[in-house]
Amino acid sequence: MRPKRPPAISRSLSESLRAGDGEDVLVTGGAGYIGSHTVLQLLLAGSRPSSWTTSRTPPRSLSREWPSLPGIDIRDKEALEKVFASTTFDAVIHFAGLKAVGESVHKPLLYYNNNIIGTINLLEVMSAHGCKKLVFSSSATVYGWPKEVPCTEEFDLSATNPYGRTKLFIEEICRDIHISDPDWSIILLRYFNPVGAHPSGHIGEDPRGFPNNLMPFVQQVAVGRRPALTVFGNDYSTNDGTGVRDYIHVVDLSDGHISALQKLFDGSEIGCEVYNLGTGKGTSVLEMVAAFEKASGKEIPLVIAGRRPGDAEIVYASTAKAEKELHWKAKYGIEEMCRDQWNWASMNPWGYGCPDPAD
Ligand code: UFG
Repeated sequence: MRPKRPPAISRSLSESLRAGDGEDVLVTGGAGYIGSHTVLQLLLAGSRPSSWTTSRTPPRSLSREWPSLPGIDIRDKEALEKVFASTTFDAVIHFAGLKAVGESVHKPLLYYNNNIIGTINLLEVMSAHGCKKLVFSSSATVYGWPKEVPCTEEFDLSATNPYGRTKLFIEEICRDIHISDPDWSIILLRYFNPVGAHPSGHIGEDPRGFPNNLMPFVQQVAVGRRPALTVFGNDYSTNDGTGVRDYIHVVDLSDGHISALQKLFDGSEIGCEVYNLGTGKGTSVLEMVAAFEKASGKEIPLVIAGRRPGDAEIVYASTAKAEKELHWKAKYGIEEMCRDQWNWASMNPWGYGCPDPAD
């Protein structure tokens, strides 16, 4: 039976998505930030996503429609076996993984265990069940400190921390798997900087503890949870001295996964292919803050600090390959990203949870 359309979600969002053919798609990490938006876009596109929840409950407003399986850890191979024994999946979108750069430096084994062992388990179980179509969430972090911009998919790869190395290793594992067994079709998606939230305001990013990334921090300052944003460095060789990144609306990013799935199912020989998902435009920290202030009407107090170790100066994507081969292009600019981020923040100042006394 087709899942019902989630309530309060704009129908127009799905208009540009070609209706799916009802594929059964397992989404690991489907309750996370990008995963939850992608599950929603899959529902709207007519696929049948299955997802479990390990890190948090599904969004309350969508919970009746949310395709939840009992929570499992992908390092638990027996549990994975049971999931694959109960449903024949046509493809897997693999988001599950730890992603805090700083934490990965202090706990490398946790990252290698969770991200790499977990992925190997998943790939082994997929293979054993004949499910050999995969979309993997990689990251622009594999470009390290790019020598030039825009970053194209052919750039040399490097990693500057254990988190980045897990992405790099998993990409290599996927390439090796395809060489060993050409039945695999794998698309590696390198995300730039996902921000914003679903325009409904029902789902968005809700990091645990201290936010590591720019926009979750800005959002928490705007709702009064933090006093000021610390700007990491204003002495870069950029227009205003602050770091430049390629921010992409999370709904655009999610749609990129639908396009990747369509490519996996369109019958073409894919092998193991990689695509950047970004907008191709660079925006500085101060430009992003100004756009958010405009969208929210809130002032964001700033504290200028030194550079954050490991930060690159300017990173943005070449989008030509994804446009040509996935027929995907980001639609939203920073105004929409900030508008939707603020909509989510003002509707849910404490994210999915209650105020945490330790916050
Ligand atoms: N920044 C601040 N203050 C903050 C947080 C960030 O000034 O409190 C600045 C950073 O110095 C950088 C920009 O905002 O110039 C963006 O920083 P983010 O932490 O939001 O994003 P990064 O580009 O550093 O990292 C993101 C993902 C990583 C991924 C990387 C790939 O968070 O997981 O992109 O390039 F590895």
